[in-house]
Amino acid sequence: MTVDDHDRATTTPPSRSLRAHSFNAAAAQYAAHRPSYPPALFDTVEELAGRSLSGARVVDVGAGTGIATSLLHARGADVLAVEPGAGMAAEFRRGLPHIPLVRGSGNALPVADAHADFITYAQAWHWTDTARSVPEALRVLRPGGALALWWNTDALDVDWIAEAADRTGRFFGVDVAAEKRKAAERVDRVDPSGRLDLTLRTVRWSRRVPIETRLGNIGSHSVFLVAPEERRAAFLEQERVHLLEVFPDGIVEETYDVLLLVATKP
Ligand SMILES: C[S@@+](CC[C@H](N)C(=O)[O-])C[C@H]1O[C@@H](n2cnc3c(N)ncnc32)[C@H](O)[C@@H]1O
Repeated sequence: MTVDDHDRATTTPPSRSLRAHSFNAAAAQYAAHRPSYPPALFDTVEELAGRSLSGARVVDVGAGTGIATSLLHARGADVLAVEPGAGMAAEFRRGLPHIPLVRGSGNALPVADAHADFITYAQAWHWTDTARSVPEALRVLRPGGALALWWNTDALDVDWIAEAADRTGRFFGVDVAAEKRKAAERVDRVDPSGRLDLTLRTVRWSRRVPIETRLGNIGSHSVFLVAPEERRAAFLEQERVHLLEVFPDGIVEETYDVLLLVATKP
């Protein structure tokens, strides 16, 4: 995917609130096309937290359709999902009826004090108000518990991905490459208060998907969801042509760097 969901200094309209809620209408598309997360990511979370996910109480915030939640559950965690959006929550409940979900925001977690061994945010922390979500995370974590935040980002050293990112950037007026170069600044934006002692790791992985999944993935991103329909369709048609030049058999190899930040509560 050439555009992730990070805050973009270069994008003014549409509003962040509109984009934060744009996922709900496209929840099924999101569930079907978005990339997952590799086992190495969860190994790294455990290493940095100094404990296993198995048997741990995990609160997965901004759970969406449950892509990360289901993987945490599969690792043996006792997961509670928190999701503000009605559409995403409905899709989650359809796919994962055995995992508890409560409607709520990271800015005011519907969870008791010192409840969690882990709080996780997969591609969701940037939608919170950190002046509220940082204290909330520290309230809900037990001492020694870990906050883990991560995002799949495009591996821009892969030629076709850098070219696709440039095309998307031109189309939406977004400088995707500059954002990637500013990974260190992103850490500051994650916790402007400096209360969290964050450790940054990057985990590379890839997946091979049909071209339709690639196009559906592009179409599930918030910057895209809020664009006018005819612009979206035109862009996807151009993208299909470009992708078939690189992957004539129609199977696209997407490469991601998961940017992972972990902080433990003293
Ligand atoms: C990019 S999706 C990530 C979904 C899921 N974690 C995953 O890995 O696929 C971002 C999610 O954050 C949710 N969200 C938006 N504002 C939020 C907030 N203030 N607190 C928690 N989640 C929020 C959205 O509803 C959406 O489900």
